[in-house]
Amino acid sequence: VYLGIDIGTSGTKTLAVREDGEILASATFEYPLSNPQPGWSEQNPEDWWTASADGVQAVLQQGKITPESVRGIGLSGQMHGSVFLNKQQQVIRPALLWNDQRTALECQEIESRAGGRAALIEMVANPALTGFTAPKILWLRNHEPKHYEQLTQVLLPKDYVRFRLTGEYATEVSDASGTLLLDVRHRCWSQALLSRLEIDPALLPKVYESEEVSGHLSASAAKRLGLPAGVPVVGGGGDQAAGAVGNGIVSRGVISATLGTSGVVFAHSDEVQIDPDGRLHTFCHAVRGKWHVMGCVLSAGGSLQWYRNQLGQPEKATAEAMGVDPYVLLNAEAAQAPAGSEGLFFLPYLTGERSPLNDPHARGAWIGLTWRHGRPHLVRSVMEGATFAMRDCLEVTKEMQIPVGEIRVSGGGARSPFWRQLQADIYGQPVSTINAEQGPAYGVALLAAAGTGAYKDVVEACQATIRVVSQTPPDATAKARYDAAYPVYRQLYRSLKNDFP
Ligand code: XUL
Repeated sequence: VYLGIDIGTSGTKTLAVREDGEILASATFEYPLSNPQPGWSEQNPEDWWTASADGVQAVLQQGKITPESVRGIGLSGQMHGSVFLNKQQQVIRPALLWNDQRTALECQEIESRAGGRAALIEMVANPALTGFTAPKILWLRNHEPKHYEQLTQVLLPKDYVRFRLTGEYATEVSDASGTLLLDVRHRCWSQALLSRLEIDPALLPKVYESEEVSGHLSASAAKRLGLPAGVPVVGGGGDQAAGAVGNGIVSRGVISATLGTSGVVFAHSDEVQIDPDGRLHTFCHAVRGKWHVMGCVLSAGGSLQWYRNQLGQPEKATAEAMGVDPYVLLNAEAAQAPAGSEGLFFLPYLTGERSPLNDPHARGAWIGLTWRHGRPHLVRSVMEGATFAMRDCLEVTKEMQIPVGEIRVSGGGARSPFWRQLQADIYGQPVSTINAEQGPAYGVALLAAAGTGAYKDVVEACQATIRVVSQTPPDATAKARYDAAYPVYRQLYRSLKNDFP
């Protein structure tokens, strides 16, 4: 049995997975997020540790597995967050998270110290984004010098939990890529950038490959969890790379499109491929010696959530009376409007946009409203706009010569047959779903299985456990309409981008 622990933003999920991929037990513990100032987003690392330890205990208490049967632990988590530790190995201040926006000036500082944006992309494969870790370290130095003086170690969220489990300061290549300090090409810290930023390399943990054993459960942690001491803990992965392993995105040509609150397009790559414009992230994959290219749409399913909350009151009331999920009614209503919503477009930039626009100032919009349009058009156009934003990321992937063979869809947008069809029609190719839909925690349980010898490698672990269970081909008429509408969608952002309020 292998344990996968995913330290997410709303909670930590722990899974117990048998070697053949069967899920035996799971538990989730939640914790708060704090926004002490507008644009700030912080969490208390102690909460992650408590939720992880309680999660393992809860999984054991379900009685489906014995402590002695646990062969390995894999860790996954929200990427980019900064845990700052002092000499006494204590947390100095709450961690700044991936969605924290306070570091715009530090991003500029990084670009200029690096010798410009192109030079930075050359060193670490990515441009500076406010969510990444390096600008957070500079923010601490610039704004809380007293804290910076005490700093002896910077860890990512899951790596702090690893430290509590094993006593080791360690990370792995996929999560480390999102710090902006990793030489992604060579899979090691970028001494060149560290020296230009005047960051002491000793602040950073040792980097492992994702399935490598990074340490063993200490006696005190073992006691807290209810496991025997000495259980190996493998590197694991950032939540996106780990989720991709859980979706079987471990070979060339297989892409995933995940529609949750945000939307992620994730492509495996055998070589390091970098977009010179920095429109997609290029990170190390959790597969040894491989990379991935990824685009993140900030409000994908989030746009439909917004619609449901703000304008979907009638559907919500009917759904409650009927005892069904409001999204089922919203989908049925959307299906009443034709593909393309009769010329109505929705731009889903409700929280600005990350990929491929990198534009925090972009805003949402409906464009093209006429008397003909009713509620079905409104809701359908929202789903279409979110899916066009995903296509934007797919198009850049193709431009980078990464083959888009099979598209595996997951998240809320894949559970709805209507949205699945819409995705096939807008992406212009079939979309498939797989048997396992457990995301990052499942992916790192497979990494633990591969890293402790149950499988030759992670690719073999995926082949043994993951299979395609459905295929949805595009409808030719709808596809033709969307192919005609897509350039209009793209042009609308370009026309508006300098005029958003
Ligand atoms: C990835 C990203 C998010 C976080 C939180 O770049 O910002 O996926 O990892 O889930």
